[in-house]
Amino acid sequence: MLVLPPSCDVQMTDEMIVLGIETSCDETGIALYDSKAGLLSHALYSQVATHADYGGVVPELASRDHINKTLPLIDQVLGDANLEKSDISAIAYTSGPGLVGALMAGAAIAQSLAMALNVPIVGVHHMEGHLLAPMLEDQPPEFPFVGLLVSGGHTQLVSVKGFGDYELMGESLDDAAGEAFDKAAKMLDLDYPGGPHIAAMAAKAREQGVEEPVRFPRPMTDRPGLDFSFSGLKTYTLNTIATFRQQDKLDETARASIALAFENAVVDTLRIKCKRALEQSGFSTLVIAGGVSANSQLRHSLEQMVAKMNARVFYARPEFCTDNGAMIAFAGCKRLQAGERSDQTIQVRPRWPLNELSPFSESAV
Ligand code: KG4
Ligand code: ZN
Repeated sequence: MLVLPPSCDVQMTDEMIVLGIETSCDETGIALYDSKAGLLSHALYSQVATHADYGGVVPELASRDHINKTLPLIDQVLGDANLEKSDISAIAYTSGPGLVGALMAGAAIAQSLAMALNVPIVGVHHMEGHLLAPMLEDQPPEFPFVGLLVSGGHTQLVSVKGFGDYELMGESLDDAAGEAFDKAAKMLDLDYPGGPHIAAMAAKAREQGVEEPVRFPRPMTDRPGLDFSFSGLKTYTLNTIATFRQQDKLDETARASIALAFENAVVDTLRIKCKRALEQSGFSTLVIAGGVSANSQLRHSLEQMVAKMNARVFYARPEFCTDNGAMIAFAGCKRLQAGERSDQTIQVRPRWPLNELSPFSESAV
C-alpha cells in the first residue's frame, strides 16, 4: 500500500463516490458508495449454479465468470444510481485473501478502469470488508468491539479498537464454521453452499418439534481459550447418518434432526466463545460478520446472551453478511479518506492475515 500526496488526486474532504469490486470467490459484487450520502447502489451475481454440479467452487470457472460479469454489473450499478463512469472518484477492489485467479480478475479490471478514468485505487482486505459491513446499517456499531468473523474460510474472534486496528483473540484450528456447515450439508445431500439449507432444515425441525437424535459436542468449550475446532462435528454428523442408515431410518425427519443437532452445536459453541471474548476484552459491543452471521438462530442466540450481559450485538442485513461489493466500497472509502492509495500494479494476496493491517483514522490527512 502506498500513501501518496493528494496532488492531482481527489481531496480527502471532498465527497467521494467509490466503486467497490468484490471477486474473491464465487460472487461478483459491485457497489457505489458515496462518502457523504452512503450506499448508492449495489448488485451481485452469484455463481452458485455454475459450481452446483461440482459440490464446491471450481477456481478456473470462478475467474472466467468474474471476467464476464464485472463490467456489466458496473454498468448496472451506475445506471441504478443515475451516474456515468466519469462520476466515479475512486475505486476499491478486493486484493485478498481469496482464490488467486478470481482476485486477479477483479484486480485487472479495477486497475484498468482506474487508469482509464485517472482516479485513485485502493486494495481492500476481504475480511476487513466483512468486519465493517454492519457499519452500512442505520445503527452502526461503534469502536471498540469484539468481532466474530464467521465465513466459508474463516472463524476468528478479533479485538477491534478502530479502523485497521485488529488483534486476533482466537480462531479455528481446523475447519471454518461456514466450511463445517457446507461439509455437513454435503453429507446430508444438500446443495452448496450448505449453510442456508441446514438452517432451513433445522428451522423446520424446530417448528415440527423434532428432537435432536443425539447431542453433538460443543468443541473446545470445556477448556479456557478462544480458539475453535469444528472438524469433529463432521465425524459426529457422519456417524449419526451411518447409524440411521444402518437402521434403514434415514428419512426426511431423521435428516432434519441431524441438521438441528449440528446447527445447535455450532451456534452454542460460537455463543460460548463470544461471551468469553466479551468478558476478556471488557468491551460491551459484539459485531458478527461473514456468511454465517446471516444465520438467524445464531443471531437469536447472541441477542439473548448480550441482553443478559448488558451488551449489544450488531450485524449486517443478510445480503451484506455474505460476499458483496458494498462492504468493499465502504472499507475502501474509509481507507481512501485516510489517504491510502495502492500503486498501479496488479497485485493480489491469496493469503493475508487480518492483523497485518495497520490502524488508520478517517481524518489522517
Ligand atoms: O462470507 P461468505 O459469503 O464467503 C466467504 O468469504 O467465505 O460466507 C459463505 C459461507 C458458506 O460457508 C455458507 O454456507 C455460509 O457462509 N452461510 C451460512 C448461512 N448463509 C451463508 N451458514 C449458516 N447459516 C446461514 N444462513
Ligand atoms: Zn466472504
